[in-house]
Amino acid sequence: MRRVLFALTLMTLLFQAACSKERPSEEPAREPRSMVATEPEIDPVTGFKMTGDWELVRGNCTACHSARLITQQRGTSQQWLTMIRWMQKKQNLWQFDPGTESRIITYLSENYPPDAARRRAAIPPDLMPPNPYSTKTH
Ligand code: HEC
Repeated sequence: MRRVLFALTLMTLLFQAACSKERPSEEPAREPRSMVATEPEIDPVTGFKMTGDWELVRGNCTACHSARLITQQRGTSQQWLTMIRWMQKKQNLWQFDPGTESRIITYLSENYPPDAARRRAAIPPDLMPPNPYSTKTH
């Protein structure tokens, strides 16, 4: 019993010590920082977000079609690369040196990434109605 009491007292003391620990007064006051990064300005001519390598993208990607075709598109870097490869294969898009290509893809995937708001999440299978064409018999 005494041991239990001792343990309890010790725990209480430790707990109090932990709670009463004050912030060191030298800690600098933090600037309130917005959680939302400020959006870059939009180029009035092309509609591109004016950030990073946007001018490189403008220079390489607007010769054949409007920039709107690009700004309305979304993708991961892999998806942007796939679009570029498709244009190179089928649409006479020229080859880029690897450095240029990677800068273009970085700009695109950072500024036009897959948009969660555009697509709903897949419906969980257990919420789906029975598939009348299913050949599976449960
Ligand atoms: C040599 C010409 C040319 C250049 C340069 C070009 N594209 Fe394209 N791109 C095309 C053609 C042609 C299409 C098909 C247009 C259509 O379907 O109306 C296309 C379509 C697209 C689409 C729509 C794809 C889709 O699935 O709807 C996107 C996005 C795109 N290009 C992005 C780019 C990007 C990014 C660049 C720069 C790296 C670029 N394009 C440079 C020719 C080009």
